[in-house]
Amino acid sequence: MSLQSHYQDTYLSEDRRAPADLLREVTGSSRGLYKFAVESKDRFLPDRDWRGLRVLELGAGRGGVSLLLAGLGADVTILDFSPAALAQAETLFQLEGHQVTTVLGDVTHPDVHLPQRYDLLVDSHLLHCLTENPDRASYYRLVSDHLAPDGIFIAETMVHRKKLYIPDGFMFDERNVLWQMIGKWTPVRKILDSLDLERELTEAQFKIAYFYYYAQFGFVPHKSFLDLPESILPAAVRFVLQNRQP
Ligand SMILES: C[S@@+](CC[C@H](N)C(=O)[O-])C[C@H]1O[C@@H](n2cnc3c(N)ncnc32)[C@H](O)[C@@H]1O
Repeated sequence: MSLQSHYQDTYLSEDRRAPADLLREVTGSSRGLYKFAVESKDRFLPDRDWRGLRVLELGAGRGGVSLLLAGLGADVTILDFSPAALAQAETLFQLEGHQVTTVLGDVTHPDVHLPQRYDLLVDSHLLHCLTENPDRASYYRLVSDHLAPDGIFIAETMVHRKKLYIPDGFMFDERNVLWQMIGKWTPVRKILDSLDLERELTEAQFKIAYFYYYAQFGFVPHKSFLDLPESILPAAVRFVLQNRQP
């Protein structure tokens, strides 16, 4: 089974949940990164108003961060390769009375068509799902090509720490790829060391405006990792990137 079908099936399995219940969960789990998006906008785009700010959330799933930003007046577009995720997002936006543009696409494909550039690009836990190159390089190109001249790209992603606990049904290889048995062994996460991530972002020609390693934060890659002490889970990095000026 491809990773895309796996995500699609996972979202479909939640299709019958009450929208109000889903809304509570999605907005609840997105609030931390939403606050980081607001702080980053205030710091790096202080003269811009939220009203009409062009936001693109990549690998958005149900679009939790964008839903909260739409509440501030942002003009939001969400992209994902799961049609079920986008359909559920549309229901949640409708429930809140907000507009959203949805784009079905794969961020690793160079033919993704987006009609404009954006002031704020958001990645809530997508980057670590891209396990291979040239997929990650294609993604960085997509981001760079769609940033407005003074635009910012913010992300939260999981990173490696020395001791990682790997439960049954998973393997972790020497390239820092986490594999999951989903019918067959499938690469599901790239858990880079934070210094290697920083180097990768620089090599992708971004200017790193902010990069912070949250050692105390334990990132749960999958529900099989629930209930583990934070110290043996991946840690988190939040960053803000801009295009380097030519
Ligand atoms: C870990 S989930 C995060 C979902 C959501 N952003 C959140 O924070 O709850 C990763 C999301 O990225 C999407 N995704 C993974 N690989 C993708 C790709 N190559 N192109 C587009 N979407 C992708 C998945 O369908 C899924 O919705």
